[in-house]
Amino acid sequence: MKIIGTGSARPSLTVTNAMLENFLDTSDEWIVTRTGIHERRVISSENLEDLASTAATKAMEDAGVTSEQIDFIICSNVVNEYVTPGLGCIIQGKIGATCPTMDINCACTGFLYALDIAEAYLATKDMKNILIVCAEEPSRMMNWKDRSSCILFGDAAGAVVVTKGDDLKAIRLSTHCKVEALYQRRRLQPTPFVTKEETDTDGVSMNGQDVFKLAVSSSIKDIDKVLTMAGITADDIDLYVLHQANVRIIESIRHFVNQDKSKFPFNLDKYGNTSSASIPALLDDLSRGNQLRTGELLLLSAFGAGFTTGACVLRWSK
Ligand code: ACO
Repeated sequence: MKIIGTGSARPSLTVTNAMLENFLDTSDEWIVTRTGIHERRVISSENLEDLASTAATKAMEDAGVTSEQIDFIICSNVVNEYVTPGLGCIIQGKIGATCPTMDINCACTGFLYALDIAEAYLATKDMKNILIVCAEEPSRMMNWKDRSSCILFGDAAGAVVVTKGDDLKAIRLSTHCKVEALYQRRRLQPTPFVTKEETDTDGVSMNGQDVFKLAVSSSIKDIDKVLTMAGITADDIDLYVLHQANVRIIESIRHFVNQDKSKFPFNLDKYGNTSSASIPALLDDLSRGNQLRTGELLLLSAFGAGFTTGACVLRWSK
């Protein structure tokens, strides 16, 4: 596969660390030092499906394809206002496509999983263009009284159009079941038959330090593996496009691969952790900011609830 178009969309409301100080026992200094985040975009009046459709439309325009030319839509999403249908179905209708759609929930690693599925579908099915849309509103999952988690996240949508090509040089996905490190349960409808005890839910539950350690150790393993699979070394990578969760996690990974800071683009300071939208939205920012050169080798790496992880080596040929 190869990426031929990118797009992104973010909510209009910027929530600064100072705004969080109004209702949380926190400070700009604590948040910036521990995470690198200065502000994030948070959904107020928007609907996630509109952000997702805007990102998708921009990616199709960038790729020079129309919605009728899209053969398949993969939508990565953890939560939105619809339990069913899948967000991909709603996006299909909004952009005027007629192809089949599939939703995946692989948390923050969703973009890597979607790339792998797209690669397999393009290789084995009669498809030309696949639209990947990663749309997330983690702000609606948080307990906004929990200062250790709600400060981290922001909402966004990122999209790419991929077609047949030879740019994906290596990809590795993994899952290590560690539910307790990061999860959110939801209370289902009561029935006359349920006898088990059910407790009320209170947003995302996260053990930040466990997630930090898992993120660094699994990313290092994935990166090592995909470099070996691609037959290259860390020096051969032009840019490390990493999941934007915490600047200290990015720094730990950077130390492991022993590469210059300039190879690690980031927008985490402005947008926080936007789950699976983080990498495609960053790719879009880089592409539209003329920061990607044709022929460059990119290393993408992400981790998220599950614990899911993934990395790939991708040549940028757009
Ligand atoms: N403001 C001020 N103080 C805070 C805040 C806050 N927002 N949050 C926690 N504290 C306090 C704690 O209560 C604790 O106080 P204590 O020492 O009196 O008990 C102190 O700060 C230190 O807390 P730690 O949890 O040890 O802080 P740490 O340095 O580990 O940073 C953080 C916490 C930022 C959450 C870090 O662990 C982290 O980034 N982990 C990874 C989280 C992550 O990336 N999650 C998402 C990944 S997966 C996905 O993308 C969905």
